[in-house]
Amino acid sequence: MSKLWGGRFEGENDQLFARFNESLSFDKRLWRADITGSLAYSEGLKHAGVLSQEEATTIQDGLRSIFADLEANPALLEEGVRQGVEDIHSFVEGELVRRIGDVGGKLHAGRSRNDQVATDLRLFTRDAIRSVQGLARNVQQALVDLAENNLDVAIPGYTHLQKAQPVLLAHHMLAYVEMLERDLERLEDAHRRTNRLPLGSGAMAGTNYHIDREFLAKELGFDNISINSMDGVSDRDYVSDVLHACSLIMMHLSRLSEDLIVFASTEFGFIEMGDAVSTGSSIMPQKKNPDALELIRGKTGRVYGNLHSLLTTLKGLPLCYNKDMQEDKEPLFDTLDTVSDSLAVTTIVLRNTTIRKDRCLHAASRDYLNATELADYLVRKGIPFRQAHGVAGRCVLHAVQNQLQLEEMTLETYQSFSPQIEDDVYEALSLESALAGKNVPGGTAPNQVKQALATAKARLQSAS
Ligand code: ARG
Repeated sequence: MSKLWGGRFEGENDQLFARFNESLSFDKRLWRADITGSLAYSEGLKHAGVLSQEEATTIQDGLRSIFADLEANPALLEEGVRQGVEDIHSFVEGELVRRIGDVGGKLHAGRSRNDQVATDLRLFTRDAIRSVQGLARNVQQALVDLAENNLDVAIPGYTHLQKAQPVLLAHHMLAYVEMLERDLERLEDAHRRTNRLPLGSGAMAGTNYHIDREFLAKELGFDNISINSMDGVSDRDYVSDVLHACSLIMMHLSRLSEDLIVFASTEFGFIEMGDAVSTGSSIMPQKKNPDALELIRGKTGRVYGNLHSLLTTLKGLPLCYNKDMQEDKEPLFDTLDTVSDSLAVTTIVLRNTTIRKDRCLHAASRDYLNATELADYLVRKGIPFRQAHGVAGRCVLHAVQNQLQLEEMTLETYQSFSPQIEDDVYEALSLESALAGKNVPGGTAPNQVKQALATAKARLQSAS
């Protein structure tokens, strides 16, 4: 297969090296971006007087015919891989020349694969960001729906995975909606930095032709152009921004997975996972395993690895383009695939989860989740919190030693710990009071959660 750079060479590449060097086997997914970029560039060359109207039309018709053929038959790219074509840029240019003859060779004037690949990857990445954002919103919607359909369900809240205070299940779900909201913001920020046009940077110094870069940016839907040609061809910060944003998405999905795995265990039994996303055991007939969630948790490591891999690749590279940078694509593509699948599977899991309301209520109503309520009750009676905490702690110790719940202790016993405790303590210890009392913005009081739910719904509405 002829190379774009054969002139200076007398010998052929070693076969193993050629395979080592090629990128078409993975950068083939940039084909749409590559042709789109070239269509705009041919217009730029026409305006610069490098291409006649007729030549530009011939080139553009050729590019469009390649686009249509690849759309209909992507396997053509595999043929290119088999023939040893070096990369997607060589593939498209080779195909163009094969179709329209030598005039196709005029397209690369003033352009380098360095500004070409930088442009292609940005075109590709900005669309990919939009797609991941859509999938993240679907997860938010599924969380919101789960919250809304179970507004009356209380569960224990945990710290150190020890029972802490009761919360509404909806409050727990809405916490993840907020995490994903920050992920969406990070992706938005990454999109802003991705959407900058490097084309016209040439190999690294700029170009001899009067290429109107602002025109190219407009044609290709970029917000602005890169300021410095050396930075233009070298900058992969935006890839790392995306990998970082995706790493945090995975971290959030992994934490959600862990919560749901724990909740689905026999010991907790707060939820039942749907058959659609569970597997059985080849030996233990009773098993229903949360494989979907475990895989999401597991794949988080792989996405973190991709971020580390990219950062390490870029570290210490001299300006400007170095072939090391070809190693940016596989971590990016793998991350986008993994995150997209993980978001989509999370949505399916949430939509196939049943809440076991009675078990949730039972767990939320015992084991001293109301101990803080007892302390706060004493504060309302005028006792300083530190003392109140001590009294409540001694009450809990008594209850533990006598195998009682706090609400099962007699008033007489309570008064032996503090004469300020009266009959209204039982009301203060109830689950309803514990929940309703957290009536601050961001708290788990039912009216606050309803408001938070309305805010989350409105946000999703305005995004769609
Ligand atoms: N396949 C290359 C990459 O992904 C394209 C750019 C090659 N440029 C060069 N000067 N060899 O980075």
